[in-house]
Amino acid sequence: MFNRSDGKNVGLLLWGNVGTGKTFAAHCVCNELLQRDEPVSVFITSLSRVLNSGWDKSETVTRVRNAPLVVFDDLGAERSSEYALENVFMLVDERYRARKPTIVTTNLTLNELKNPQDMSRRRVYDRILEMCVPIYFDGPSRRRETVDDKLLIMRELTAEET
Ligand SMILES: Nc1ncnc2c1ncn2[C@@H]1O[C@H](COP(=O)(O)OP(=O)(O)OP(=O)(O)O)[C@@H](O)[C@H]1O
Ligand SMILES: [Mg+2]
Repeated sequence: MFNRSDGKNVGLLLWGNVGTGKTFAAHCVCNELLQRDEPVSVFITSLSRVLNSGWDKSETVTRVRNAPLVVFDDLGAERSSEYALENVFMLVDERYRARKPTIVTTNLTLNELKNPQDMSRRRVYDRILEMCVPIYFDGPSRRRETVDDKLLIMRELTAEET
């Protein structure tokens, strides 16, 4: 994935329904890189959060340009204002031109990514589809499992008290 001698750094597009483990999987990759003897630094950012008021544009651009791995979490969840779309394009294009590996997670379907509603999204998604190999996350939301686990713990705790 990293620093291939042919310059074709391969990224990942983790797509699928809510709660299927896309962000979790991206974080697993990051943890693995950070735990190496020579840790590889990563920049994880949610495109919707980064564009909220108060974001440091120049710092974000520098990190997107330089980090050995960038994770753009939740593509498509950003507001569809002209400002948000312009800046999403700017960040994705920055990374595209850096030719470094990128992981993108999204609830958008591959079909939606291939057939966007407008030109500004097309410019973003086209770059991502070139940079990243799509991996589909299937199944029900894992958040249900988390809730079930918590219910079990709660039952055990209340049983202990009685
Ligand atoms: N492989 C896994 N093993 C254990 N728990 C997991 C695994 N994958 C995901 N989870 C748990 O399932 C929940 C949902 O995972 P996650 O947030 O990664 O989903 P997501 O696909 O990114 O959802 P969304 O589309 O809403 O952003 C989290 O609580 C996460 O810790
Ligand atoms: Mg997620």
